Parts: sequence; C-alpha cells; structure tokens
Amino acid sequence: MPFLSDTEPDVQMTTLIEAEEIRQTTGLQLIASENFTSPAVMKAVGSVLTNKYSEGYPGKRYYGGNSIVDSIEALAIARVKALFGAEHANVQPHSGANANMCAYQAILQPGDTVLGLSLDHGGHLTHGSPVNASGKLYNFVAYKVSGSDERIEMDKVHELAVEHQPKLIVAGTTSYSRRLEPKPFKEIADEVGAMFMFDAAHVAGLIAGGAYPNPVPYADIVTFTTHKTLRGPRGGCILSKSAYGAAIDKAVFPGWQGGPLEHVIAGKAVAFYEALHPSFADYAAAVIANADALANGLATQGFRLVSGGTDSHLMVVDLTPFDAGLTGKEAQLVLDTAGITLNKNTIPNDPRSPFVTSGVRIGTPSVTTQGMGTEEMATIASLIARALRNRTDADELAAVKSDVGDLCAKFPAYPNGF
Ligand SMILES: Cc1ncc(COP(=O)(O)O)c(C=O)c1O
Repeated sequence: MPFLSDTEPDVQMTTLIEAEEIRQTTGLQLIASENFTSPAVMKAVGSVLTNKYSEGYPGKRYYGGNSIVDSIEALAIARVKALFGAEHANVQPHSGANANMCAYQAILQPGDTVLGLSLDHGGHLTHGSPVNASGKLYNFVAYKVSGSDERIEMDKVHELAVEHQPKLIVAGTTSYSRRLEPKPFKEIADEVGAMFMFDAAHVAGLIAGGAYPNPVPYADIVTFTTHKTLRGPRGGCILSKSAYGAAIDKAVFPGWQGGPLEHVIAGKAVAFYEALHPSFADYAAAVIANADALANGLATQGFRLVSGGTDSHLMVVDLTPFDAGLTGKEAQLVLDTAGITLNKNTIPNDPRSPFVTSGVRIGTPSVTTQGMGTEEMATIASLIARALRNRTDADELAAVKSDVGDLCAKFPAYPNGF
C-alpha cells in the first residue's frame, strides 16, 4: 500500500509546520526552557527508529529485532554517564515530569514525606504541587525563598528537614535565577537520614558544559530534561548511584511507561555527543554571560530583577517598578506581537494570580545558540522596554517587530538549513 502523503501531501500540516519554522527563526526566543536543537538531533528523532517497539532494556527486550536499538540505547547510556560522571543512567523517560515521577516511585512509598521548593517560589509542579500527582501521592513540605534576598534559605531547609524528617529532599528549580549548591543539601539530607534528589531539568546543559555545579557526586538521584540548556530532543533522563539503578529501571518500565521512544533516545545520544565536545563549555559559559548582560540591560531600563540578578541561564523580572499597571500576562501578549517570545511568571509572594502575574521569565539558551553575545543582549533589553513602553501603539510595536526580525536575520538559528 503506498503512503497517501506520497501522492496527496498533507498541505494543511506542512503549512502549519512551515509557519512555526518562520515564527521560531524570525523572532526572539527567550523562553528559558527552550532551545534550538541541532539538525543532527532532529534527523535522529525523525528517523525509522520511530517504527520500532523495544519494551525493556538493552539485552532484555520483549520483542525481537532489537539488536541495533540495543546498541543505540547503550550508546546513549554510555555517553550520558561519561558526560555527568554518573554510575547509572536510564535514558527512557519521555519527559522531565516522567523522570521525576519514576524517581519517586523507585525510592518512596505513597504518603512519604518529601521536601521540595514551592512552585510559586521557583520550584516545579512535580515537586509537590497539590494539582500534580506528586502532591497527591506524597506528603510534600515546601521550602521557599527568603523575603529579603529572594534566595533559597538553607537555614530554613535545615529547620524544615529537622522538623519533618523527610525521606527525600528535592532540590532543583524552574524559575529561579540563582545557582544551587548541591553540597549543603546533601549535608542536610545526611543529617536527617534522607535521600537527596537533584532535578537538573533546567541546568543540565550548564552542568555538562562545566558552568554550573555538578550534583551527581552528591545526589542519590539526578533527573533532567534533554531539551532545555542541554539542547537535545524533548525528553527526560535519570542518573543515579548504582544502588538505585535496578529500582529506577523498574519504575520507568514497567512502572510508568511502556515502549521507549528509541528515535528520541537516538536524538538524546546525539545531544550527549555534542555536549561532550569541548566547544559545549564555551556555549554554556556564553549562555550565563548573556543572561547576566541581559539582566543588567533590563535593570538599566527600569525593571527589577528578582534576587537582584542571575548567575544561571534565566532571570525572573518584576515588572512593577517599570510600570505598576503592567501584568506579566499583558507583557507576554504585547511582546508576542513584537516578535519576542517569553512567558509570564509569578514573582515571589506575587499579589497577582499565576494566570496574570507581576513578572516574566527570560532565558538566553536559544539566542546564545544563534550566536548572539552580550552586545545583542543590551539591544534585546531595549527592544523589550520599547515594546512595553509603547504597548498601545500598533505602529511602534510593528517597528520593534521589524527590528527584531533584522537582529534574528543576522544570527540565523540554522545557517546551514535543517
Ligand atoms: C525543574 C523541572 N523539572 C521537571 C520539568 C518537567 O519537564 P517536562 O516538561 O519535560 O515534563 C521541568 C520543565 O519545565 C522543570 O523545569
């Protein structure tokens, strides 16, 4: 049977994908959790590997025909272990959220107490939000950032750990601009007899590039996503000490997932290959330098940076001093019109709801992949301020969009096509 699309192409879908290609490459992509993955990664993800069922693990599959897939998955595992210095790796989680739930299932019983960063202070849904399965299955106790410097208070983490005697302490952030040192978490975990898990979803690429502390030597388990700073395909990964390896593998399959996405695992292997190259360290350092430059540029324009700035790939920006009437929701919409993509974000103790917010989150992984540097970050800060200052002026927003297009044209994400 011929494929229908060979003779009658799906024009509707082709048109939509082309429109998204244009949106991504002609506007500024400042969502902190996004990146441009390489054509090599996309080629692997779009390969015939999508046709294969391979429930199980290399050498222990339920179906035949898996000898090549076994080599692919084994290569991904070997590369990621080398990249982070891990004893055990499971590359099958379909996403970061899955990776976290699998990790919890491997080491916790329902009802166990866990310490995690509050969602509205920069944590992730899977760190115990009541609307997420993590918050329903386990007894999460939230730690927060301090009211004074908006940084995680390790004294408070210690106090809560002593009070609640958690079985697990989770570190890791979604919208927190400051570096997390794994060692103090590990010391607290050891003191109260807890296990320690580090969710490196956002910072995996920075760790791989040596620009952020590596939690692997300290944490029992490290989870991460492969599509953010690490610049791979959408997916998750779990690293652990050998002692937890069998329980983690069982929690992923058959615990939470069925057949692994071997085309995505091949894409992960390509991303690990790219991140193992010394040039990835330059990328990771440039992401952080750019974030710092963008934060400084925004401060000059009258915005307030939560915690005063950043030492990672992202910043959370309090819009209030710039314009008390401007919400994160409106800023996101206005900037979208001007070709600048970012997301609204609560600021610590935000008086507005998570759907409205008083802030935005901005990240530099994508623009750094495009080759932009600190000079361009100052330009981006002024484009953001100009659009928001003139948010009711359609002509001015169109002018900003045109300038954004000119800037992106100078730094094509895919100079050699994809
Ligand atoms: C800290 C953290 N953990 C987990 C996740 C979940 O990743 P995914 O969206 O792939 O499920 C995210 C995603 O933003 C995250 O920031």
